[in-house]
Amino acid sequence: MAQLWGGRFTKETDKKAYDFNASIGFDKRLFHDDIEGSKAHVMMLAKCGIITDEEKDSIISGLDGIKADVDSGKLSITSEYEDVHSFVEANLIDRIGDAGKKMHTGRSRNDQVALDMRLYCRRNISEMRLRIKKLLECLLNVIENNTDTYMPGFTHLQKAQPVTLAHHFAAYFEMFKRDYGRLCDIFDRMNYCPLGAGALAGTTYPLDRDMVAKELGFTAPTANSMDSVSDRDYLIEYLSALSIIMMHLSRFCEEIIIWNSNEYRFVNIDDAFSTGSSIMPQKKNPDIAELTRGKTGRVYGALMSLLTTMKGLPLAYNKDMQEDKEVAFDAMDTAGDCLDLFTAMVATLTFNKDIMAESAQKGFTNATDAADYLVGKGVPFRDAHGIIGQIVIYCDTNSKSIEDCTLDELQKISLYFDNDIYDAISLKTCVDKRLTKGGPAETVMREYIASARDFVGKI
Ligand code: ARG
Repeated sequence: MAQLWGGRFTKETDKKAYDFNASIGFDKRLFHDDIEGSKAHVMMLAKCGIITDEEKDSIISGLDGIKADVDSGKLSITSEYEDVHSFVEANLIDRIGDAGKKMHTGRSRNDQVALDMRLYCRRNISEMRLRIKKLLECLLNVIENNTDTYMPGFTHLQKAQPVTLAHHFAAYFEMFKRDYGRLCDIFDRMNYCPLGAGALAGTTYPLDRDMVAKELGFTAPTANSMDSVSDRDYLIEYLSALSIIMMHLSRFCEEIIIWNSNEYRFVNIDDAFSTGSSIMPQKKNPDIAELTRGKTGRVYGALMSLLTTMKGLPLAYNKDMQEDKEVAFDAMDTAGDCLDLFTAMVATLTFNKDIMAESAQKGFTNATDAADYLVGKGVPFRDAHGIIGQIVIYCDTNSKSIEDCTLDELQKISLYFDNDIYDAISLKTCVDKRLTKGGPAETVMREYIASARDFVGKI
């Protein structure tokens, strides 16, 4: 296959070198973006008098024809071409003849690929935002229905203080809300159009870069031509945001796996999102959660890969940058699939509320509240902490919870205990008295839910 750049070459490229260099196998994903970018470019060329209106019309209808044929399957993007840009240009020339040879006026593949990748990434960010929105809605439904579903809150994976399922899920809601914000920030920062940067130093043609930027929905053209063709920061930022999303999903999956274990039995994962064992008939495994946790490594890998690719590159374009695509596409696909599946799995989770409450009841999650009770009776906190410590030893030895002790037993350790201790350390009181902003009390959570609904409604 003749190359776009074949003019100064007297020999065919070595077959293996050609394959090594080619990117069509993966950059064919940029096909629609390449067509869109090329159309905006030629419209601008005509407007600036660089090509005629007839040439422009012929190129646009040629490009539309190629798009229609690829979309219908009549034409396939094959490895006969070096990359998607060569595929489009060669097909255009085949179709419309000489006018097609003018499409690339004032443009290089360097600014072309920079544009295509930004268009792809920009659309993918919008899709990812929508996925996060769906996840936030799903979490909010669980939160709304579980403001009085008591469960133990943990530190060091040891029972610490009682919370509610709503409060626990709201912690993740906050994480994904920040993830949403990160995607918006990245979108705004990357939404500048590199076309017109040429190979690196702009061009001598009187291009209207503002027109192309506007046509393609960018905020403005990029400000430096060398930076325009060399910048992959936006992709690195996006991979970093995807890595953080995956880290959040992975932590959540880890908890669902623990909660789904035979020892906890807090949740049941729906059959539709579980798998069985080929040998152990009793098994129902949380594979979707485990795979999501596992795939996190892949997305981190993409981030590390691109950071490393970019770290030693002199300005401006270097072919190393072609390595951005496969890892970035893989990370976008992976994070997208994980978000979709995770949301569907959470939407169908069922909660064993009695088991959760019973677990919160055990393990001295109300010990802090018992100490606070004594503080209310005038005991200094440090002494109260010591007294409850003794009660915990007593209860441990006698296999009971604090509230199982009779008043007599409690008073043997401190005379400050009275009959009102039982109400003061009930699960409901422990949760409902935690009225600090951001705390689990039902009244606080109701306010939280109203503002969370408001947030989701506006995005
Ligand atoms: N496939 C190339 C890439 O992804 C397109 C740009 C080629 N530019 C060049 N000067 N060889 O980076």
